Amino acid sequence: MILKRKIIIFIFGIFGIFFVVKSQALTTSAFLKLDRAPNIEDEEPLSIFPHLIHQRMFACFRCHPSIFSYGRDTYTHKDFDSGKYCGECHNGSVAWHIDDVECETCHLE
Ligand code: HEC
Ligand code: HEC
Ligand code: HEC
Repeated sequence: MILKRKIIIFIFGIFGIFFVVKSQALTTSAFLKLDRAPNIEDEEPLSIFPHLIHQRMFACFRCHPSIFSYGRDTYTHKDFDSGKYCGECHNGSVAWHIDDVECETCHLE
């Protein structure tokens, strides 16, 4: 009997941990203020990334961890031009090209 109860508590514990980890991953903000790459000084406001909109369009694994780690990567327009990070999709084929929209589409005060 005791063993059975321990097993049940163990199983609920595992589910509990899974639930907390999973919900934390999903409840990050709808918009993320991205970090500026080191050694770059520019007046341009930081890019705001609409995370939730992308989460609704794609599976997490489309971006994590191959394109973006779950942490805080830094990248510049040079990376986009060579098809990396946001440039993997915003290249005019998967989605609109970065150069075809207003700067304010991503850089908002
Ligand atoms: C279109 C690509 C894309 C998709 C799809 C995506 N993410 Fe992200 N995610 C990002 C970017 C960009 C960042 C910002 C961090 C960075 O630049 O490295 C980020 C950051 C995060 C972070 C860190 C949040 C923070 O506050 O710093 C977590 C956690 C995360 N994503 C979880 C998820 C989960 C869970 C899903 C699926 C439901 C998901 N992401 C889908 C691109 C994506
Ligand atoms: C996995 C592909 C993918 C990646 C990577 C990606 N995007 Fe997108 N993004 C899309 C698609 C698809 C749309 C919808 C395009 C449309 O509406 O025509 C979109 C839409 C957007 C929009 C407009 C959202 C709205 O309100 O309609 C912004 C802003 C944006 N992306 C910024 C970024 C930034 C910044 C990055 C890099 C941090 C990024 N995206 C990375 C696929 C991607
Ligand atoms: C698809 C979204 C998007 C658009 C459109 C966009 N940017 Fe960016 N930009 C980013 C992201 C993401 C970063 C990296 C985070 C940051 O530094 O804000 C960045 C970084 C930068 C940086 C610092 C790094 C570098 O490459 O020098 C400058 C300056 C910049 N952008 C200027 C501009 C200007 C000017 C325009 C309009 C001609 C523009 N951006 C349009 C997403 C975008």
